[in-house]
Amino acid sequence: MKQSSSATDPFGQNTIKLISNVCFSVFVFFVLLFTVIAITYQPPDPWESSRALAKAFTAVEKATFKTDTSILKTGEDISLSSPVESPAFSFVPITEDSIDKSEGELRNVTLKSGCVDGDSVNCSDPRVLIAIERFNLKTFKSIAFLDYQSPVSGSKPDECDVAWRFRNKREKSWRKYRDFRRFRVGFGSDCSYKVIHAGRWHSGGNARRPRIVNGTRGSRAGPRARIAPPVRDEDINDTIPVLGSDAAFRNGRYLYYSRGGDYCKEMNHFTWSFLCAVGEAQYLNRTFVMDLSMCLASTYTQSHKDEEEKDFRFYFDFEHLKEAVPIVEEGDFVKDWRRWDKTHKKNKIPVRKVRDYKVTPMQLRKDKSTIIWRQFDAPEPENYWYRVCEGSSAKYIQRPWHALWKSKRLMNIVSAISGDMDWDFDAAHVVRGEKAENKQLWPHLDADTSPDALVAKIQGMIKPGRRLYIATNEPFYNYFDKLRPHYKVHLLDDYKHLWSNVSEWYNETTLLNGGQPVDFDGYMRVEVDTEVLYRSKIRVETFYNLTNDCKDGVNTC
Ligand SMILES: *[C@@H]1O[C@H](CO)[C@@H](O)[C@H](O)[C@H]1NC(C)=O
Ligand SMILES: *[C@@H]1O[C@H](CO)[C@@H](O)[C@H](O)[C@H]1NC(C)=O
Ligand SMILES: *[C@@H]1O[C@H](CO)[C@@H](O)[C@H](O)[C@H]1NC(C)=O
Ligand SMILES: *[C@@H]1O[C@H](CO)[C@@H](O)[C@H](O)[C@H]1NC(C)=O
Ligand SMILES: *[C@@H]1O[C@H](CO)[C@@H](O)[C@H](O)[C@H]1NC(C)=O
Ligand SMILES: *[C@@H]1O[C@H](CO)[C@@H](O)[C@H](O)[C@H]1NC(C)=O
Ligand SMILES: *[C@@H]1O[C@H](CO)[C@@H](O)[C@H](O)[C@H]1NC(C)=O
Ligand SMILES: *[C@@H]1O[C@H](CO)[C@@H](O)[C@H](O)[C@H]1NC(C)=O
Repeated sequence: MKQSSSATDPFGQNTIKLISNVCFSVFVFFVLLFTVIAITYQPPDPWESSRALAKAFTAVEKATFKTDTSILKTGEDISLSSPVESPAFSFVPITEDSIDKSEGELRNVTLKSGCVDGDSVNCSDPRVLIAIERFNLKTFKSIAFLDYQSPVSGSKPDECDVAWRFRNKREKSWRKYRDFRRFRVGFGSDCSYKVIHAGRWHSGGNARRPRIVNGTRGSRAGPRARIAPPVRDEDINDTIPVLGSDAAFRNGRYLYYSRGGDYCKEMNHFTWSFLCAVGEAQYLNRTFVMDLSMCLASTYTQSHKDEEEKDFRFYFDFEHLKEAVPIVEEGDFVKDWRRWDKTHKKNKIPVRKVRDYKVTPMQLRKDKSTIIWRQFDAPEPENYWYRVCEGSSAKYIQRPWHALWKSKRLMNIVSAISGDMDWDFDAAHVVRGEKAENKQLWPHLDADTSPDALVAKIQGMIKPGRRLYIATNEPFYNYFDKLRPHYKVHLLDDYKHLWSNVSEWYNETTLLNGGQPVDFDGYMRVEVDTEVLYRSKIRVETFYNLTNDCKDGVNTC
């Protein structure tokens, strides 16, 4: 009877029961699988040798190990599985097709007749722009062109200046940069326009947008307003957000880290610690209270002493950070806190003080205090911020690498250098410095990066005559002279004008620094070197390309 019923009715009771059982098992299986994945998932880490790095930072007492201080990777260098969402991401790059389309619309507008190269050119003719767009697309393959402004006349009748915004396809951020170049425009046989010559990076001065001189952008009205620095690169808005009303302050939830032993340490240590702190704030769903005043370790300063009061915004993109994660500035925060406690003597702000990093983020998750204050009073190395993310916490806290980008002001220098080489260059990363001196850990590095060895080895990897950018921590400028007969060698110091006292960078950082000029320090040099290196076509690395020594010292590879 049963059999016949299930035979006649394919969706009989039993079948349904069976199906639902199977579905339930599958469901349970996926829940389990998902849980396992969620627990073991580790976000991508920007260091190739993250294990070595973790080891270095856990074995702090035996400081035999040095991280590579000649390179600094941040969010824009890492491929992230979930790209940062931003309205700015929704641009459409210009393609051959979109150019064809706008050209098609002009098809029945007659071309002028009787033309020779050198004739004056009407730069507002839309077909001039089309010729330039085509030329750029063909010439600068690593660039995504986003939008153009209408060309304007250059200095001669057959010249046009044109500005555009672009992205570098090698950069994983959505940031946009500007270039404006001068083009000499001639004619084809049918009097159509063609580009005869393109000027260099930022050569089209007439197309440069007038700069904003007023210092009122981005500031807030009212008695609590800060004096915001004038925004010079129109795309940069790194003013410090203010909390607003007392009620807003009281209703917030904050994670506040006192300065720890990380202060004045090298930059990999800084990013490792800072991102741990911000990661904990995210995990706790709290606003991170951030000290924008950094201390630069002596290895990066011209004075060879630790230098305090360096603005975070000299080095990193604060605008992006504040968009990516909730942040308040420490000075404002402490002022608001004091004022509240003074005016509400019986109803002070609830604070949970945490003295020991061994109190885990998981233990703090249920805490309802307005402020959780980690104090880091213990002696080194018990007072490093990143220790909060050690052990079992590592499973719960994800360092938000996507939130940390390099300063846009430095990236403008990177664009200027790469643009000056027309985005068409190869690069060598030559690590020397302390590692080359340490024969115990890197026995062959010094010899393998000697001038003669470089000439011999690089010639096997990069075609002679190419532009060669050398990112290096070798301080002696003429060290690479033996490569010059073979390549057009470019070093960071060839671009000193980009941070000299007449540069855009100088003007902008001086404003940011309250009128005091800012040194172009070793930390900035490393950031720029890193990014130019990553824009090269062929890249020769020191370790495993130039030398067989291990990156982290003998027996680590
Ligand atoms: C060009 O062609 C379009 C239709 O394709 C027509 O509407 C327009 O009037 C024409 N313009 C000229 C200047 O001939
Ligand atoms: C240049 O081209 C624009 C657009 O086609 C036109 O409006 C303008 O009159 C032209 N100017 C001259 C001087 O021919
Ligand atoms: C700058 O702003 C002030 C008021 O905020 C205004 O009076 C002045 O005209 C502005 N200057 C320029 C050049 O826009
Ligand atoms: C700059 O950013 C702040 C928020 O951080 C915002 O309030 C302000 O309007 C922005 N200014 C401009 C000009 O976009
Ligand atoms: C995080 O905090 C905000 C307000 O501070 C709240 O609206 C939101 O629900 C919280 N999210 C979680 C997941 O706790
Ligand atoms: C820039 O520095 C040079 C010397 O390094 C000095 O002669 C010049 O006056 C300075 N210019 C400005 C605008 O500060
Ligand atoms: C920097 O500022 C000075 C003085 O305000 C100005 O003369 C110079 O043109 C500016 N340089 C750049 C590149 O903006
Ligand atoms: C450098 O070494 C890596 C790994 O051995 C290799 O994949 C790469 O092609 C080398 N680079 C060059 C420019 O030869």
